[in-house]
Amino acid sequence: MSQIERKKETPTRNIALELLRATESAALAASKWIGSGNKEAGDKAAVEAMRNIFQSIDINGTVVIGEGEKDQAPMLYINERLGTLTGPAFDIAVDPVEGTNLLATGRPNSISVIALSPSGTMMRAGPSFYMKKIVVPKPAADYVDIDAPVRYNLERVAKALNKKVSDLTVFVLDKPRHQDLIKEIREVGARVQLHSDGDIVGALLAAFPQTDVDILLGTGGTPEGIISAAAIKVLGARILGKFDPQKEDEKRRLIEEGYDMNKVYTEDDMIKSDDVYFVATGITNGSLLKGVKIIEHTAITHSIVMRGHTGTIRYIESHHDLERLNQISMINY
Ligand code: FBP
Repeated sequence: MSQIERKKETPTRNIALELLRATESAALAASKWIGSGNKEAGDKAAVEAMRNIFQSIDINGTVVIGEGEKDQAPMLYINERLGTLTGPAFDIAVDPVEGTNLLATGRPNSISVIALSPSGTMMRAGPSFYMKKIVVPKPAADYVDIDAPVRYNLERVAKALNKKVSDLTVFVLDKPRHQDLIKEIREVGARVQLHSDGDIVGALLAAFPQTDVDILLGTGGTPEGIISAAAIKVLGARILGKFDPQKEDEKRRLIEEGYDMNKVYTEDDMIKSDDVYFVATGITNGSLLKGVKIIEHTAITHSIVMRGHTGTIRYIESHHDLERLNQISMINY
């Protein structure tokens, strides 16, 4: 009797499930500022709430993508050590409120987000603020070229996705710098979906199959590109990014510090490990995640939790008791 011996892997810790409490807490804190017109206050509340939860997570973390340099940001600043500093060493990217304007104006798609990968594997944005990006889902991963014309990329993606170009929807940030890009997409015949902010959500919508977005094109934040790369890796999708400085000072620093302006970065350059985690919680309602909702004495949050090692993707709805929340956190509902 032959027996095939299967080697069982012992289940390992999924840190993303612990990080979930941090994005939930940040989203809950920020949600008090939805539509308030005050993006700074909403961001500050989210930063404090997120940092507070990190104090209880057993990791030896370093912020690689954060709220800025130490002199501008009192918390979650780049190089800040996070966690209890007793566990494994990780690089951390945080964006307690992605889409601060969306939050302040009560528009859809503001989220709270964290990405994490083993120490030394996450790309630093350095002096780069802006990156030109293409994001496509897995079937189109090998069909795009960031240096090629828009027509080439749209025709190739349509072919890979078995669609007509006229059925493709392209997520683009609605910025003056994209005037020509928008014109070109329309000339080729694809649909443009314009958003004032929030290209992490845009990247995820493009990377996930079967959403109403097929591809993201255009220039957005470099930190947002690196954070998106974490989720894109879990999905086996593709991001291509290239530094695209929008100000003279940004360009000068990149050149002075020896950055290669022609280099095309993929998700594997941005996160050099498959052991990657991505967690996001909705603040305002959006196409990817529902926002924070208060029903009587309960706050309901919706999150996505992704782990590269296993490829697991979880959608989590949490119900938080408001009274308890007020006791244990700085969130005063
Ligand atoms: P914030 O949350 O920092 O306000 O970023 C929102 C955002 O829209 C990002 O999603 C995007 O990558 C970036 O700003 C684009 O920058 P800009 O608005 O300067 O073009």
